[in-house]
Amino acid sequence: MSVGICVTTALPYANGELHLGHILEQIQADIWCRFQKLRGKRVLFVGGDDAHGTAIMLSAEKKKISPDAWIADVWQRHQADIADFHVDMDIFYTTRSEENRHLVEGIYQVLHGNQSLMTKDVEQSFDEEAQMFLPDRFIRGTCPKCGELDQYGDNCEVCGAHYLPTELKNPYSVLSNTSPVTKSSEHVFFRLSQKSKMLKHWLDNADLQSSVKNKLVEWLDAGLQDWDISRDAPYFGFQIPGYSDKYFYVWMDAPVGYMAAVSRYDVLNQTNYLRDIFDVGSDWDLVHFIGKDLVNFHGVFWPTVLTSAGYRAPSSLHVHGFITINGEKMSKSKGTFVTARDYLNALSPEYLRYYFACKLSDSVVDIDLNWEDFVARCNADLVGKIINIGSRCASFVHKYFSSQLAGRLDGLDLYHKFLEKGDAIAEMYAQKKYNCVVREVIHLADLANQYVDSKKPWQMAKSPELLPEVSEVCTTALHLFWVISVYVAPIVPEMSKKMQQIFSHKATHWDDAKRLFLKQPLGAFPRILERLSVDMCPA
Ligand code: MSP
Ligand code: ZN
Repeated sequence: MSVGICVTTALPYANGELHLGHILEQIQADIWCRFQKLRGKRVLFVGGDDAHGTAIMLSAEKKKISPDAWIADVWQRHQADIADFHVDMDIFYTTRSEENRHLVEGIYQVLHGNQSLMTKDVEQSFDEEAQMFLPDRFIRGTCPKCGELDQYGDNCEVCGAHYLPTELKNPYSVLSNTSPVTKSSEHVFFRLSQKSKMLKHWLDNADLQSSVKNKLVEWLDAGLQDWDISRDAPYFGFQIPGYSDKYFYVWMDAPVGYMAAVSRYDVLNQTNYLRDIFDVGSDWDLVHFIGKDLVNFHGVFWPTVLTSAGYRAPSSLHVHGFITINGEKMSKSKGTFVTARDYLNALSPEYLRYYFACKLSDSVVDIDLNWEDFVARCNADLVGKIINIGSRCASFVHKYFSSQLAGRLDGLDLYHKFLEKGDAIAEMYAQKKYNCVVREVIHLADLANQYVDSKKPWQMAKSPELLPEVSEVCTTALHLFWVISVYVAPIVPEMSKKMQQIFSHKATHWDDAKRLFLKQPLGAFPRILERLSVDMCPA
């Protein structure tokens, strides 16, 4: 049993707005953190921006501002977006920080000292007009395999071939439209080819989804290649100590940004989490939530770099698929690209948190956001099923019983059934099977509504001698409502808080589901969530 869990989400590039794909990951991780905290676990949830690289440098140039000014601006919006989705992160930091520079330089020195690095000359495409080496994505040309025109420098979107940019036919630089020349320069490599045993050991011990593990084993078996961790100037990043014109490749310092965030948290809070979490032998779990495109970086480079540098390796990767909107890849031209802010300007984050939870499981499948389905599920489940239990019963308690709950429950069987489900639902959360959590909870809400329907308190209330029973029935249903409010709290925290408001109590632990409110006053039932229609949705 670990003493705590450090949870991270991938650091979005500081190069544009967050979109609903980024938010999917934030919500997935946030639900898990909230659940763990509700179970009494210590959790440190960190994230931040990934602020380095050629793309960011060129974006800033285009906007005629300094890269530092550009990323500072983006950071403001990213962290506001994340907070406004009720993602309860302990710190949202940036890789462009002194903590990160310090940590990356430290890691470099250790790797340098223990022969984990070497240098060799690399032939690369160079844009003579822009006077810079070109990242693969900045070169286009004809696919060497199938002959398709205008393909990226690293892979062909038509035939799927992977190749080197120097293999492209008729290559041109997207910066200047000129044909790049090949130029040689010295690069620093991490000797990944010597880390197979280390990686195998990690793979045998880490907690990974089976499909992810299979992929990683496949890569390992195919043989690991040394990894180029340097880039030539001009580059926006940290200089490599001892070189005047070489920078760390953005993917070298990006995951170190997780540590930098923890380190910053320590500075702000006078804690020692960096050491507690990242030292070898740490009794903390380290869990990275990432999308399927990042398995390579987090499952090959990162554990071997950390281990080689004398730190512990991650305990677990949790990989999710990509989001599509109405069945299609998000695309600006098709108008299906929804930024986090577009969504927030239209709707409460609680609906999207709920909808994503309905779809998220422990597998790496893509997730479709269909606005009609979204509206139907939110209306039927949240408003029609869950909120309905409370709103109908609370109104009887206010009308007939001076806002006071009964002294005992009717139908104890049902109430106990609700409580007994607690362990199974908790296990589903722990395994990140939120789709199963939702299915169970909605089943419980159905049972609660059926219970009220079968008792017909609105009919009983017409006969004064049945009023005590009405009171007990409503009190029972409201206790079921309370139990549900605890079970859904990680998914829809604000909705849960409002559900709990009528009890003048806020659950802080999973076991608070068992709390009784007999003979207690009932507060006014608040507006919780309104019904949706498709025209209210963004895009
Ligand atoms: N900067 C790197 C991560 C560095 S982590 C040390 C990066 N940034 S990103 O902005 O491109 O992506 C951030 C996260 O969002 C990644 O986990 C990525 O998989 C996820 N997503 C980006 N687009 C996505 C969708 N359309 N759908 C779901 N998740 C997606 O990669
Ligand atoms: Zn091709």
